[in-house]
Amino acid sequence: MNVEKLKALLDDMSLDEKIGQLLQLTGLFFQKDVVITGPEGKCGFTDNDINLTGSILGTMGAEKLKKIQDEYQEKQPHHIPLLFMCDIINGYRTVFPIPLAQGCSFDPDLVCRAAQISAKESAAAGLHVTFSPMVDLVHDARWGRVMESTGEDPWLNSLYAKAIVEGYQGDSDHIGHGKIAACVKHFAAYGAPIGGREYNTVEISERTLREEYLPSYKAAVDAGAAMVMTSFNTLNRTPSSGNKKLMRGILREEMNFDGVLISDWAAIEEMVQHGVVENREQAAAVAIDAGVDIDMCTTSYAHNLKNLIEKKIVSVDLVNEAVWRILTLKNKLGLFENPYKDADAAEEKNIILCEAHRNEARKITADTFVLLKNENILPLAENKSSVAFIGPHIENREIYGFWSMYGEKDQTVSIADALRERFTDVKVAKGSPMLDASVGARVYADRKDLTATEEETKALLEEAETLAANVDTVVLALGEYRAMSGECKSRANICIPDCQMELFRRVHAVNPNVVVVLFTGRPLDIRDISQKAKGILVVWQPGTEGGHAIADTLYGEVNPSGKLSMSFPYSVGQVPVFYNEMRTGRPLKVGEEGYTSCYLDIPNTPLYPFGFGLSYSDFSISPITLSEDKMRVSGEMKASVNVKNTGSRKGKIAVQLYIKDHYAAVARPVRELKSIKKIELDAGEEQTVDFVIDRSMLEYIGPDMNYTVDPGVFSVYIGDCSTTENEAVFEVV
Ligand code: BGC
Repeated sequence: MNVEKLKALLDDMSLDEKIGQLLQLTGLFFQKDVVITGPEGKCGFTDNDINLTGSILGTMGAEKLKKIQDEYQEKQPHHIPLLFMCDIINGYRTVFPIPLAQGCSFDPDLVCRAAQISAKESAAAGLHVTFSPMVDLVHDARWGRVMESTGEDPWLNSLYAKAIVEGYQGDSDHIGHGKIAACVKHFAAYGAPIGGREYNTVEISERTLREEYLPSYKAAVDAGAAMVMTSFNTLNRTPSSGNKKLMRGILREEMNFDGVLISDWAAIEEMVQHGVVENREQAAAVAIDAGVDIDMCTTSYAHNLKNLIEKKIVSVDLVNEAVWRILTLKNKLGLFENPYKDADAAEEKNIILCEAHRNEARKITADTFVLLKNENILPLAENKSSVAFIGPHIENREIYGFWSMYGEKDQTVSIADALRERFTDVKVAKGSPMLDASVGARVYADRKDLTATEEETKALLEEAETLAANVDTVVLALGEYRAMSGECKSRANICIPDCQMELFRRVHAVNPNVVVVLFTGRPLDIRDISQKAKGILVVWQPGTEGGHAIADTLYGEVNPSGKLSMSFPYSVGQVPVFYNEMRTGRPLKVGEEGYTSCYLDIPNTPLYPFGFGLSYSDFSISPITLSEDKMRVSGEMKASVNVKNTGSRKGKIAVQLYIKDHYAAVARPVRELKSIKKIELDAGEEQTVDFVIDRSMLEYIGPDMNYTVDPGVFSVYIGDCSTTENEAVFEVV
């Protein structure tokens, strides 16, 4: 539809119709045979709200959505189509590893490919918008939603934010066939709740917000993200959904975001709970003034905006502005011409979980695994038949992460499934329940299969011990169950469940040749395992092709190349711990603890730092060669290293470049990641890797809050981890 026609449509709409566009409901309201209970049932939506709502969330399927669209358009006075939105986070039916795992690929192209497939499958199932990417920077592994983030680094997160938005949307001016609109979330700083406790307060300085938290949202907006979602939290005492400075000032004016801003679920209404407004009416007035266009799942807008306009508390212009943005998005998706967009039952059947998607997922998944330890135990030799595979994750197919609501257990490959495709005789044992009874009840009270009685546990342990004692090597698949991380899944003790740790100790006592395959949605405290196991492979929540990718890696067809995008803490007492911390006036030198910044009982450094990950190959990295030793502020120079695969098999390595500014007008981090290059080398092959250092790598936010570069001394580090000491010093003049 051309802009004139769209404007004419807006002018012709009644106020009720306009306000309807600003409401989002769940698909449940559109299914005739469903009785709505629970929180949605109590919300007080009327038939009029349902008939005029502008968008729905959480329903998928080509036929179902087409039917909903038909029935809705018939009733809508101008036949304006609905927008269909959903949380497709790490894949629709072909499920990819959780975003934190994808962050460990150090490969934005890979992440983009996963988003492209997610878009294709979900577009065919009728989707228009996905509530992804979640680009909240994370430092605190206690917070359950670290699994949805790509990690702790602002620069790397920004790279992924761009890649994911481009993967979903393609060309952002016209979201064409097989593409869906991206909704970047949760604006802003949702990833910094105090104590890592879900929905908790966020208190950070404006500098920290701008330097660390905002860059990834900005990268997504710059890449053309069609939508942004507000966060639940208060940021420095103001709830995001009513924060005008944040939404109109920073998001719309500074970042030039002109798309649709949606509240998180009930976040407008929750301003009442935050205690900053008295009731929903006031909440609606504050949110629309702050520039929030859609109210997700409450009556705040639907039942109050008309009154607020009549009372002249809210200007109708604000409503028009919000409706205009929503209509513009519908137009960008081509819905006025084709309200079904790509919904197509035949296409859905053909492409969902097709061989090509599965094969791609298998490759992508293996590249997200991080090898933390390997004392000559991996890869396993195919002909070495005496390997036992033990642990509650060996047969587990629920390995697609918290947010994969459409991942299907029966379509997912467990480790045991993959092994049985390879070998006729596979020695497996469950070994322990998945969850301790106390946690099990909090996770899923009705899932008795996740826990076990004392007697059952005893029998499982004995069986595992007997099996382990009679083989050369034991692969132990341990870790978090999928619903131990995700929304509202904060944990104060970030350990492997006790019942599984007991299994580890008992197996290790009878056979020290243990490889741990670690399933998790967050960095865990794995000190005990780290000391005793001979191999540790972190596989996160790997998705549909998880079992295949794990077997491919254990048996060496894939050489692991993942690097941690979030540090594994030494213990929970160290959290938050991250590599790019600020310098202190009393830095710790090991052996000279004295009155320095340190703990009495644990080291300062994490157990496994950001950027760390081993390979089955060894790589040597030469000292750095700089093209100059002085660089002008707006100039450029080259930093090069020679990388050689000194191992005996082909492998990939993510070469990382960090910068340290020695002196600036404000304290700066110890070092910051500024570039990565992931290369693949045959055994014995070497390659020169060149990086260009430019102004963007040297800038920081100065005392006046503007970006600046201070001439002076800088260091560049190039290596295979954030701790690399491979350093060259240069001067900026
Ligand atoms: C989450 C969002 C999600 C929304 C819709 C909320 O509870 O915080 O991330 O997109 O629900 O499902």
